Amino acid sequence: MDSRAWDDRYRTTDSVWSPTPNLFVKEYLANLPVGRMVDVAGGEGRHALWFSQRGWEAENFDFSAVAVGKSLERAAELSLGDRFHGHVAAADSGQDFLLSPANLVVIAYLQIPADGLAAAIANAARQLVAGGTLFGVWHARENLTEGVGGPQDSRVLPTLAELSAAFSAASLIISEIGLRRREVSVDGVAHEAIDAVVMARAPEIVTCS
Ligand SMILES: C[S@@+](CC[C@H](N)C(=O)[O-])C[C@H]1O[C@@H](n2cnc3c(N)ncnc32)[C@H](O)[C@@H]1O
Repeated sequence: MDSRAWDDRYRTTDSVWSPTPNLFVKEYLANLPVGRMVDVAGGEGRHALWFSQRGWEAENFDFSAVAVGKSLERAAELSLGDRFHGHVAAADSGQDFLLSPANLVVIAYLQIPADGLAAAIANAARQLVAGGTLFGVWHARENLTEGVGGPQDSRVLPTLAELSAAFSAASLIISEIGLRRREVSVDGVAHEAIDAVVMARAPEIVTCS
């Protein structure tokens, strides 16, 4: 889907996505020290809003102007002031973040073909502080056959091998990569979705004495 199609989707209803953070974002990132974070393909901004409410300076970076506009409205309602920024731009276009360099980048459910995704990961990696964190979560390729929900086009469902290659090519150090199951309710019935999760960090700068 291009940005206009996403804009149309975001215009259809007040909240396309749950306003609460993804459970893996909470599990992996809740205890990080406060800093500057960028939510790449952040949509309505649930993660940037969550971090900003917790004292972080946060940027919602998404190519849908409608989604970013919604996040800015919500940030104003929450009186987040200059701790929240909206940025309309494509993740795979090499654009600088407003909050570059960042301590943390989150990429949640950016379901695009592997080459664009690798470009988005590389762009995020080059804008992390030394030792900064890049956390990503995707509907996994396995979700197509074993899980529920999410896109039904295998080209936008990354494999762990594709993710590992993209993170390594961006010189990131992977501390954890794997498939995680997430309970979802469909018409009141519990099912499982299968997500791919990657936790990684930028290399530390080594100084010679
Ligand atoms: C499934 S939504 C996820 C939104 C948000 N990360 C969340 O978890 O609530 C995917 C988002 O990716 C955005 N997106 C898709 N392709 C993009 C691209 N090339 N650059 C920036 N944003 C993109 C869409 O506008 C949409 O907001």
